[in-house]
Amino acid sequence: MEKPWEHPDWYDLHDTTWTAGPEREPEHYRECLLALPPLDRADHLVDAGAGTGKLAAAIATGYPLLGRLTLIEPSATKLARARQRLAKLLPDAQIHTLAAALGQNHALPREEATLVTVGSVLMPMMELSGGTLTDGLTWMRAAFADLMLLLRPGGWLYNVETLAAPWAQGGPSEPVRRLHMAEFLAEFGRAGFDGVECVYRFRDRVVVRGQRPVQGDQGRG
Ligand SMILES: C[S@@+](CC[C@H](N)C(=O)[O-])C[C@H]1O[C@@H](n2cnc3c(N)ncnc32)[C@H](O)[C@@H]1O
Repeated sequence: MEKPWEHPDWYDLHDTTWTAGPEREPEHYRECLLALPPLDRADHLVDAGAGTGKLAAAIATGYPLLGRLTLIEPSATKLARARQRLAKLLPDAQIHTLAAALGQNHALPREEATLVTVGSVLMPMMELSGGTLTDGLTWMRAAFADLMLLLRPGGWLYNVETLAAPWAQGGPSEPVRRLHMAEFLAEFGRAGFDGVECVYRFRDRVVVRGQRPVQGDQGRG
């Protein structure tokens, strides 16, 4: 796409309106919640890149009987805040916290989660890491491999992300950028997830889900 903001009508329509905007985050997290399968005492939710626990809190509010919750987050201070927030919402749940990062060979629990959620982690962290798109994809693929292994066979990954703007282009050896929808869905498939589907989209914000195959063929491609 040529620079669309050079077109005066496009500019008048779109100036500052492309991005979904942080004020809409609760709405997107609620849409993620609404797309989830029901959660109950037997379920174990792992929220990876939990930050201060905003996405996990939205889910806990909808499913107060959730039995187990693991919050994974590299920042110890954010993790402490997340634990505090979730302990209030889920007083009867087993809550574990783990100061660790995706895609960095950290020791993570394996095959324990019935559901894994990721809220705005893969795209921003890839972009912030610098380097080329190939470098970013190398990290994202390692992160997807970690997410797959967190899940029990048959468990689902739900990922809220902010996609690349339509005019953000650039090939593998060019500076890292966010991914477009088709590229992002392809990464889910490449990681071995089944049933990959965008279950919500508002402008650049998406919720994409994928299921760990029940047996056998993870990590193909
Ligand atoms: C934009 S915040 C989102 C936090 C939270 N999921 C939410 O929805 O509020 C991204 C989070 O990812 C964490 N993070 C950074 N690198 C990470 C990695 N390699 N693996 C997992 N989380 C990471 C950051 O510390 C930060 O808390």
